[in-house]
Amino acid sequence: MKRLEVNQTIIPEKKRLLHHWEKVLESGKLTNNQVEVQSFQNELKVSCHRSHALAVSSGTMALHLLIRALDLPKGEIIVPAFSFVATASAPLWEGYNVVLCDIDPKTFCLDPSKAEARISSNTRAILGVHVFGQPCAVEKLEALGNKHGIPVIYDGAHAMGSMLHNKSLLAYGLASMTSLHTSKIVSSIEGGALFTDDDSLYKRLFQIRYFGRNASNQDELLGTNAKMHEFSAAYGQLSLARLNEEVEARRKIAAQYDEAFLAVSGLDIFKESSNHYWNRAYYPVQVHDSAAIEQIMEQGETQNIGFRPYWRPALQDLPYLEKENGKHYPVASFAANHTLCLPIYSSMNSNDVERVIQCIIKAME
Ligand SMILES: Cc1ncc(COP(=O)(O)O)c(C=O)c1O
Repeated sequence: MKRLEVNQTIIPEKKRLLHHWEKVLESGKLTNNQVEVQSFQNELKVSCHRSHALAVSSGTMALHLLIRALDLPKGEIIVPAFSFVATASAPLWEGYNVVLCDIDPKTFCLDPSKAEARISSNTRAILGVHVFGQPCAVEKLEALGNKHGIPVIYDGAHAMGSMLHNKSLLAYGLASMTSLHTSKIVSSIEGGALFTDDDSLYKRLFQIRYFGRNASNQDELLGTNAKMHEFSAAYGQLSLARLNEEVEARRKIAAQYDEAFLAVSGLDIFKESSNHYWNRAYYPVQVHDSAAIEQIMEQGETQNIGFRPYWRPALQDLPYLEKENGKHYPVASFAANHTLCLPIYSSMNSNDVERVIQCIIKAME
């Protein structure tokens, strides 16, 4: 029985990939924003409806660069209590206090009304996360940012291919980033990308990615090395070219899951809102009884299915967020203890999907 994992990135066709990599090798130009990185960035900005896209070495580095390039006075950044650690560790590493905020029970994304209650005179930015490719309440967050004069930026690590009002989810906010790690739909093996329509922010991001150097090669800003290399960018282009077909296939699998799970008690599915075209980066379910998650995972192991709970612990329990330890974010805690992600990717056939469904039904009996 073939093993099913939660996710499988788009794997480019071997012959085409090797041909692309051979061209890179022969060019002798292996890194430093050469042809492949430049064309990948062009394709990314078109796909994500932005004026600028910048390819970087990881999603985590994208967060670091973005927070640094905003050039805000030191203070607090509001972050949802339910996310991957990098959403909190990047602002902390960049010298900001992380102020956590609870999430919306429907989308598991930052709750704007709770975010407003966390704003103080020390708030410098709001960092929303499009969890599982679901959209944050972007209009409400933008209004909140405007009202308080603070920028709203997005961690769109899961957002590639998701659309809101027919526009890429990565096109919202002053700037956004995505991860191009192999756990994501589109991948450059390791990698990430930044998106903005703001010319001067883009210029700073570009410089900081390259040691802080300006166009005349002078060391102007405090920068780092966050460049993507040419082999990664070549891989990324082949992966991005198949995004639409991958998302369509995942949506069909999601529909098969949705139909089956409507009849299963003790488990809730997430619904796509009317203006959202969900990329199905993940297929999360909410399991009422958290103990049933372990049962499903055990049952899965007997049938070679790798289910994954997301994300444990909630961020308020991270040992290095001392000021947040012990605080109560009920929806985030619920999400951390009750969310299970199921395998979803285009190479699963309907028998594979049925195998997952039956495994869950059996474990929930
Ligand atoms: C929400 C979120 N933000 C940031 C990251 C970091 O991305 P990367 O692994 O490319 O550094 C991830 C990675 O899984 C993520 O899920």
